Amino acid sequence: MSRTVYVNGNYLPEEEAKVSVFDRGFLMADGVYEVTSVLGGKLIDFAGHCARLARSLGELEITNPHSDDEWLAIHRELVVLNGITDGMVYLQVTRGNPGDRDFAYPAADVAPTVVLFTQAKPGMADAPAAKTGWKVISIPDIRWGRRDIKTVQLLYPSMGKMMAKKAGVDDSWFVEDGLVTEGTSNNAYIVKGGKIITRQLSNDILHGITRAAVVRFAREAQMEVEERSFTIDEAKSADEAFITSASAFVMPVVEIDGAAVGTGKVGSVATRLREIYLDEMRKAAI
Ligand code: PDD
Repeated sequence: MSRTVYVNGNYLPEEEAKVSVFDRGFLMADGVYEVTSVLGGKLIDFAGHCARLARSLGELEITNPHSDDEWLAIHRELVVLNGITDGMVYLQVTRGNPGDRDFAYPAADVAPTVVLFTQAKPGMADAPAAKTGWKVISIPDIRWGRRDIKTVQLLYPSMGKMMAKKAGVDDSWFVEDGLVTEGTSNNAYIVKGGKIITRQLSNDILHGITRAAVVRFAREAQMEVEERSFTIDEAKSADEAFITSASAFVMPVVEIDGAAVGTGKVGSVATRLREIYLDEMRKAAI
């Protein structure tokens, strides 16, 4: 069935949605994106995604084309038009471009290109993988140095996902200078002696919206959270591991580079955090 998508102010059947071939998003990956989950027809942690979008755009000197209220209205309209109960809304803002390809940015008054669409994922909160956990491999992190900006340059993360697929596992964890940065499209955590350990925020990782919520909920539940880097060896000898993202929520990791983490089964900390996250986020959804 054809979706209704949003392009630059218009709600259109996906077949009729068009963007210029000169757009710098297409030519140069010059743009940013957000993914907001929808559960029960409502948006999960929308304010967090809006705030990060504004920051990413600011870092790239792209004018934010909409207020938070306008973004919310567009998201809601697409959810309704496409009858989304569970799924996600993808939002992308690229720098646009009126004409010739040029490394220099076009004039500041050139309108950015705005595209939003939905993807339905019925029952996504009950993903069977949450009961069995993911297996991951480690690969070198060769991405650029501003991973805190959520740009659409996703080639290496895609390659990392393909390396995982070829290895018969679910995802890859990036390693730089001997330390885990994050997963291809998620933040990485280990649990040791009841303590949750996840890399500190910097330009080296995306500041996950789910990470912020999970760290807050963990602390509210009197769990200890330490924000620091860890190695793959430390992860392999941890009691548990897991990842977080807007689309996977909290997902246990049970194997790293062929070695079982802890018992090799889904752990209680990850399971509890997933439950708390989903409960709280459903309550706060808008
Ligand atoms: N990915 N790290 C990276 C590299 C990511 O791409 C993502 C999100 C995260 C988690 O961020 P958040 O909790 O805000 O979703 C961390 C999204 C889901 C994606 O690309 O589909």
